[in-house]
Amino acid sequence: MDKLVIEGGVRLKGTVDVSGAKNAALPIMAAALLTEERSVIENVPPLRDVLTMIRILRELGVRVEMDGDRVTIEPGRYQKDTAPYKLVSTMRASFCVLGPILAKLGHACVSLPGGCVIGPRPVDLHLKGLRGIGAEIKVDGGYVFAKAKQLRGGRVYLGGSFGSSVLATDNVMTAATLAHGTTTIENAACEPETVDLAHFLMKMGARIRGLGTPIVEIEGVKRLHGARHRVIPDRIEAGTYMAAAAVTGGTVTVNGARIEHIGAVVDKFRQAGISVTVTDGAVTVKGPSHLRPVDATTLPYPGFPTDMQAQIVAMMCVSNGISIVTEKIYPDRFMHISELTRMGAQITLEGPSAIVKGVKRLSGAPVMASDLRASAALVLAGLVAQGKTDVARIYHLDRGYERMEQKLTRLGARIWREKE
Ligand code: UD1
Repeated sequence: MDKLVIEGGVRLKGTVDVSGAKNAALPIMAAALLTEERSVIENVPPLRDVLTMIRILRELGVRVEMDGDRVTIEPGRYQKDTAPYKLVSTMRASFCVLGPILAKLGHACVSLPGGCVIGPRPVDLHLKGLRGIGAEIKVDGGYVFAKAKQLRGGRVYLGGSFGSSVLATDNVMTAATLAHGTTTIENAACEPETVDLAHFLMKMGARIRGLGTPIVEIEGVKRLHGARHRVIPDRIEAGTYMAAAAVTGGTVTVNGARIEHIGAVVDKFRQAGISVTVTDGAVTVKGPSHLRPVDATTLPYPGFPTDMQAQIVAMMCVSNGISIVTEKIYPDRFMHISELTRMGAQITLEGPSAIVKGVKRLSGAPVMASDLRASAALVLAGLVAQGKTDVARIYHLDRGYERMEQKLTRLGARIWREKE
């Protein structure tokens, strides 16, 4: 296992390029299963999760090649319908093959993903949505068995206790493209990754209206064809490098950051006294000598993203006041807090809220990553801490950030990878 070693205290400076969005690439790769023809997807980050999706597609008998950031998927007449536990359990996003396999073959068998460290992660909305468009679904032995000779359009409401669901919207929208008749998804996710998936589906010949709004209408078509698509830049990766610049008091230009995808993050950053300048296709962030405290609440898009919650908590650890960061999507997503506390942060948890009292300095310490974004938060803390920080278990980080230590090194950070 690898760990990252960071010697903190360097103000980051320079330019960093954002990779393609993993959370858009994964459902798009799955959607390629809706046709026999070849699809070419570009700007796909070569991350562990992407490699897992490639393994799942190959397991179905589909031809997949990855060359740099380009993935070519040629399903042909694949007949296998099963996504096995050993792969789905390592990555929840693999559950989004359910909709496309079902729509194309008329039957699908996909392992339940199970919970994960950020809390329980049910799939009831996925199943409700697919049932709403005519699928018969049975859950047995840890697997979801779905079948439908012909899916038919319907009206499905996809809101749960925590709002809309990104992957449930993706699953139902994808399946509905080949249904007989029109499907209306109410309380659909509006996330840019779901919109990017819809753009890919439309290039394949799907008819979708209302993308990016909570009411999405899909008019089913008889068949779809292969398509070529370039995945949008990763807004969470962009936000993480913006946070790295800000927390170290540095100046960094994040190339490829799309301002229209990160409005809520930019708003909070500006409230914290960070200068954010937008130019065509890039965002430049300049951190102040002292961050001001800000309160933030995570919400579905266009609200403040839960995938940036751990990072803003890390930033607020060194602000000059008290901040309250409330998690409204995954109330248990606070594994980073105990590790940040080991570095001298002062944080208390009150239900789903972290109360962060800024300290003058954090001190380097050995810490352990528990999940993807928690790992990013620990790296941010390591960059600003005095002394050396060892972040163990960075395989979590490798699931979502392409060559993070190399990108940070180019910005001047003292960070490297070692074997644990
Ligand atoms: C996606 C992202 C993840 C992000 C999350 C929220 C991918 C691959 N992952 O995950 O990085 O943190 O959106 O923005 O795109 N829920 C239910 N029932 C369901 C499904 C979800 O109750 O059937 C709940 C979840 O527990 C959570 C909320 O709905 O509280 C939102 O989750 P959801 O949007 O589904 O997350 P994912 O799509 O799995």
